[in-house]
Amino acid sequence: MHSLNKTFANLPVTVFEAMSQLARDNNAINLGQGFPDDPGPEDIRRAAADAVMNGYNQYPSMMGLPELRQAIASHYAHWHDLNLDPMAEVMVTSGGTEALTSAILAVVEPGDEVVCFQPVYDSYLPIIRQAGGIARLVRLEPPHWRLTEEALRAVFTPKTKAVLFNNPLNPAAVVYPREDLELLARFCQEFDSIAICDEVWEHVTFDGLQHIPLITIPGMRDRTIKIGSAGKIFSLTGWKIGFVCAAPPLLRVTAKVHQFLTFTTAPNLQVAVAYGLGKTDDYFLSMRQELARSRDRLTKGLESIGFPVLKSQGTYFLTVDLSPLGLNESDEAFCRRIVTDYKVAAIPVSAFYEEQPVTSVVRFCFAKKDATLDTALERLSDAVHRR
Ligand SMILES: Cc1ncc(COP(=O)(O)O)c(C=O)c1O
Repeated sequence: MHSLNKTFANLPVTVFEAMSQLARDNNAINLGQGFPDDPGPEDIRRAAADAVMNGYNQYPSMMGLPELRQAIASHYAHWHDLNLDPMAEVMVTSGGTEALTSAILAVVEPGDEVVCFQPVYDSYLPIIRQAGGIARLVRLEPPHWRLTEEALRAVFTPKTKAVLFNNPLNPAAVVYPREDLELLARFCQEFDSIAICDEVWEHVTFDGLQHIPLITIPGMRDRTIKIGSAGKIFSLTGWKIGFVCAAPPLLRVTAKVHQFLTFTTAPNLQVAVAYGLGKTDDYFLSMRQELARSRDRLTKGLESIGFPVLKSQGTYFLTVDLSPLGLNESDEAFCRRIVTDYKVAAIPVSAFYEEQPVTSVVRFCFAKKDATLDTALERLSDAVHRR
């Protein structure tokens, strides 16, 4: 048997797959994986259907349709006062995942160190390692998951080529305040590092909290690769339309990777996303309100059963810290127990750690219909006690 690429061959089945499989096997409600169960905005879906029927079905330009690149630039100018040249600083990719891979492969060379924060999204480390990079992990902790000077000082070195930062943070559901972003920006400048900023959750924020793109922090404009995803913005996660925004020298090389990863992205969906990004503020604000309503429904329900909920500031997720319950089981054991005994699937947050995991926190997705959430809550009503 040939020995295959160890970076990938040795990857275990992800806990997301394992839990989804357990959810299917047990006929459980899946509050593990992060996708909404409504069909998404009808006008945007119709725009895509029209584009399929009326043209736009051949290879579009590698960088993305000019109208979408313009719409992305206008969108960020409107929401964040960020001025991007749509032709030199914006590229469309096949989802945030491809954008991340393109950015990492564009930046990281063998021996480079890359600072990452645990809980860490699962695609980052394998790609960093495939590029020959060395991940330097910061351990973030509940309940606040904040960045500290001490933690950053411990991992940044003269070899720190890049930092990979996810904000808002999945699974912790934190929207980082300006203070933390300024701290990170200071380190990036002191160590001359590039920030790859995974902001796919940028629009999914609650309680009036505003997402602040790292690229808008003084000193970061030319050293940040900003990544977005229409899937999260429009609750159309299967569309896989991502964006990369960066100063021309960074975007140019990122585009060269994209050229050989996917080259282009479905043009009809690009047309629809361009239309969607131009929607008035009302759309974005009511999407947030609707999701916040679901968050509150699940939060109140879980609290009434006795679960200590860590309040979600953004994303489709909330987390529960099991430690005060004295259950004497890990987050993973808890998730396995509730999927088999109570037919509700969730995700153990320890799965987002490679070393020194936090083992007491569980993630639930609330982007579901009221009836789905209510049934899950009914099923979980005595899950705080071990059977
Ligand atoms: C933090 C984070 N980054 C990236 C992605 C992937 O985005 P996409 O579906 O656009 O590839 C996700 C999806 O859940 C995510 O949570």
